[in-house]
Amino acid sequence: MTRRPLIAGNWKMNGLRSDLAWMDTLGAELEGGRPDCDLVLFPPATLIGGLIEPGQAQGVSIGGQDCAPAASGAHTGDISAEMLADLGCSHVIVGHSERRADHGETDAQVRAKAEAALRAGLTPIICIGETLDDREAGRAEAVVTAQLQASAPDAPASLVVIAYEPIWAIGTGRTASDDDAQAMHAAIRANWRGDDAQALRILYGGSVKPDNAKGLLSRPDIDGALVGGASLDAQSFAAIARCVR
Ligand code: PGA
Repeated sequence: MTRRPLIAGNWKMNGLRSDLAWMDTLGAELEGGRPDCDLVLFPPATLIGGLIEPGQAQGVSIGGQDCAPAASGAHTGDISAEMLADLGCSHVIVGHSERRADHGETDAQVRAKAEAALRAGLTPIICIGETLDDREAGRAEAVVTAQLQASAPDAPASLVVIAYEPIWAIGTGRTASDDDAQAMHAAIRANWRGDDAQALRILYGGSVKPDNAKGLLSRPDIDGALVGGASLDAQSFAAIARCVR
């Protein structure tokens, strides 16, 4: 089973209209040879509309960073999966650790958001990952597999993506070692509830940079990367994409 690698850029709450030129810079970077992988960018919601068409021209899909469980209704400030699909998005991140921390999102809510994404025809990227305390106490795998079981919907593996993001590695400059990341990805695949785990794409996230991407992406169960800080720079995002196996 060959899984097509996926390199995703998560801009988080960064980016103004002046940053729409990122897509042109990326296009110029990729002119010399397109990496053999899917590319998806997750800009803030305010920039999605301005990036759909430029993204199409460069072969970059666009996604939302979050979605509401409901399709519509009295939920001031929220954006539904249907609205993202209507804009032309193909993916949505759900359950990022920053949303779990900042907004108290539970596994059950994350699962409801992933189900909403599927309902709207979007691919959810479901984020899971342990804290430093969990890792130091030796319970990282138990925590992450419990999150997987409670956050992932009952759906074919080919319709969802899992992102393993150890919280202690996000934005800190620390990454899991290639061996530790591979071990966790293998555990996630082993704990996928369906019998189609070989089709499940599992991304690694947490301080992925051009200089550590190659080692991570060469591991058999690491199918791509969810890149935060380094995705703000189109050249470093392209350099990471060029590391796909
Ligand atoms: P980082 O963020 O690459 O800046 O660590 C990754 C993420 O949170 O998705």
